[in-house]
Amino acid sequence: MQVSEILPSLDGLAPYLHEFQKGLLAHTASSLPLLTRLTQYYVTQPSKRLRPCLIFLMCQATNGLGVDWAVKVREAQGFATNDCTNSPEILPSQIRLAQVIEMMHVASLMHDDVIDNAETRRGAPSAPTVFGNHSAVLGGDFVVSRAMALTATLGSPEVMILVSKAFCTLVEGELLQSGGIQNHSGPADAFRFDADFLYCTFRVPPDDIALATMWEDYICKTYMKTACLFSCALQCSVILGGAGNEECWRKMALLYGHRLGMAFQLVDDLLDFTGDPGKLGKPANADLSLGIATAPVLFALEEDESIREFVLRRFGEPGDVQKTIERVKNTGALRRTRELAELYADKARQTLSILPESAAKCALSDLAAAILVRQN
Ligand code: FPP
Ligand code: MG
Ligand code: MG
Repeated sequence: MQVSEILPSLDGLAPYLHEFQKGLLAHTASSLPLLTRLTQYYVTQPSKRLRPCLIFLMCQATNGLGVDWAVKVREAQGFATNDCTNSPEILPSQIRLAQVIEMMHVASLMHDDVIDNAETRRGAPSAPTVFGNHSAVLGGDFVVSRAMALTATLGSPEVMILVSKAFCTLVEGELLQSGGIQNHSGPADAFRFDADFLYCTFRVPPDDIALATMWEDYICKTYMKTACLFSCALQCSVILGGAGNEECWRKMALLYGHRLGMAFQLVDDLLDFTGDPGKLGKPANADLSLGIATAPVLFALEEDESIREFVLRRFGEPGDVQKTIERVKNTGALRRTRELAELYADKARQTLSILPESAAKCALSDLAAAILVRQN
């Protein structure tokens, strides 16, 4: 499902998405036809295209706000002018940034489907199902390498560093989720905001140290495996457009991406319990089967202590998964997870308030609401 099916106002992005897709195919092509089939497998499937849409909207909402816009346009057009009347709405480097971020996303899915042993994705057999685990891992590596080479052409060492850091954070988040890292120190600033959310708004019991630690790990890894890439993408969009030299625009983009990314992943974790596998296009109840306790389980734990033993053994005994699903559904956990996602989406929308009024600003705001009602 394209994101424009959720939000018709995104139709105006069609020409940019067309150029984006053309470049994506070029950047993921190899001289080996089999490798090209593999690296382009997820790239050519219908998808929401959420990340490129967000990047293009953030570019439309912020290009021209910084004092450097004229310079950026001049660089892009290759000739000297102080006249911005013919300026492009979105710079070529920003379209390439969208390709870099999508390539990172696609590579991470190729690896993720190996790690999660996922048979399906986007309503079709997953890349490892079609090509095998070894090929899916190597295909992901190929796409990551191409993405890094493309990042080097964006003309900003800072963007290169931010993108590389986001790569590292994705890996750390995935390891944290699988229990492979203990005693981590998460991303401090981003996390402090989340801790306020949890303890003040949601009253996660701070006296239950074990549960509080599980929440901290969950929020931290959710930022690292998902929200971090949104946050990086939108911050880099603003930097490439020149508005990033002003702290307020950069921070707005970063926080919007962070909060929207958290809401997105919370909905993903909710859909794992409530989604229809036919609409999801991937297996439901996958998290519990992989031993992962997400927000619905953590909220349920507050009401039903009997779930704790299942969490502690990572749902490893026969019947644990089914019993946990039933008990989670008998509590208010699914409603509370949705409310937490809504709160993040609201906070994302509030971040936009400093932007001048524009159609792109409205669409960014609408998108934060639209991801809450998505079915896949
Ligand atoms: C999907 O989560 C997976 C991610 C959001 C990140 C996966 C990251 C890695 C495998 C690290 C390697 C990164 C790169 C760039 C190669 P999910 O399994 O909860 O969601 P799903 O239901 O869509 O599979
Ligand atoms: Mg997965
Ligand atoms: Mg996974």
